[in-house]
Amino acid sequence: MHPRTTSPTKAPPGTSDVLVVGGGIIGLVTAWRTAQRGLSVTVVDPEPGGGAAQVAAGMLAAVTELHYGEQALLGINLESARRYPAFAAELTEASGHGLGYRASGTLAVALDSDDRAHLRELHDLQRRSGLDSQWLSGRECRRLEPMLAPGVRGGLRVDGDHQIDPRRLAAALVVACERVGVVLHRAWAERLSVAGDRARGVVLADGTELGAAQTVLAAGSLSGRLAGVPGGVLPPVRPVKGQVLRLTVPKAYAPFLSRTVRAVVRGSHVYLVPRENGELVVGATSEELGWDTTVTAGGVYELLRDAHELVPGITELPLTETCAGLRPGSPDNAPLLGPTRLPGLQLATGHYRNGVLLTPLTGDVMAHALTTGELPDEARPFTPRRFDGAAPAPVSPRPQSFTEQPV
Ligand code: GLY
Repeated sequence: MHPRTTSPTKAPPGTSDVLVVGGGIIGLVTAWRTAQRGLSVTVVDPEPGGGAAQVAAGMLAAVTELHYGEQALLGINLESARRYPAFAAELTEASGHGLGYRASGTLAVALDSDDRAHLRELHDLQRRSGLDSQWLSGRECRRLEPMLAPGVRGGLRVDGDHQIDPRRLAAALVVACERVGVVLHRAWAERLSVAGDRARGVVLADGTELGAAQTVLAAGSLSGRLAGVPGGVLPPVRPVKGQVLRLTVPKAYAPFLSRTVRAVVRGSHVYLVPRENGELVVGATSEELGWDTTVTAGGVYELLRDAHELVPGITELPLTETCAGLRPGSPDNAPLLGPTRLPGLQLATGHYRNGVLLTPLTGDVMAHALTTGELPDEARPFTPRRFDGAAPAPVSPRPQSFTEQPV
């Protein structure tokens, strides 16, 4: 049982019950779910619906992105994946926007004997964890996905790892928030207001004060940088850059791929995510370069080189977009959810590689935490209190202000 650090107070007139700093998908889903429970909610962000979701590929890869030592994270990843179909249906109904949810599965393949050994280990870990995945020979992989390179040595078929279009998800959340009465304040939060040892809302860049009974810091990779948050309470979140490409599959080539295809090539993850509308997303680099969001020739080259080894035919496709975003990395790769030791301040950040996947669960968890003051059982391991006193992640160069929101 964690100590109760906030109470579900109603706000005085002129203030909100809940103020969310950050209008990316995590901030918006928190706002939407909380407003559905009858609290008044304000989101502060100059561009609601922006953030890392504008870059992310949208794989719901609880099984294919399983890592040793992340069993607790696996639990909430699977639970969020389980909630996705109902969540997507409800959000589509609430917003009138489709989300591009596709239950088309994932194929993780090996290009050489080292990759194959690595995939075999992953398969063992998946089986020990009770997960559903099927080992395929190279020939079986190519039968499933004929565009795969002839040299593919084997693979894992995971029909339960689906995908969504994060840009459509973000757009739908903006509309759903507006329809349920969430106030979207298009401005930068400059600092947290703290009075009487309690968070009281934020001060905007123009000096306007927005008061709230409870404040949620959901600013992605910038969550560790909001001025006014006491040192030991600042989340230890750091930016991890990902460069991503978007190609287009002309109608004449469709279906180019029928499911997400991924591999580890020379130690780097590469994945190709085909959307129903013909977009093919190729990602992603993983770079610890501070706040840099430059798309580099090297990043594009490596992604194309590795993707080409997997699916040689991609060089025929139009390259329609290159972009880079910042994952909010945390020390244990897991999110920080719920009350901090500063009364009135909660966190919804640090989702690292799993922000899109964890969106449904995060909304439910945060709405529960904001209405009861406590985390639901499934989220207790992810309390921010596990890092109490940790120094903020060292990142340089520091952005000139909190307001330099990348992507
Ligand atoms: N989950 C995919 C990525 O972070 O690149």
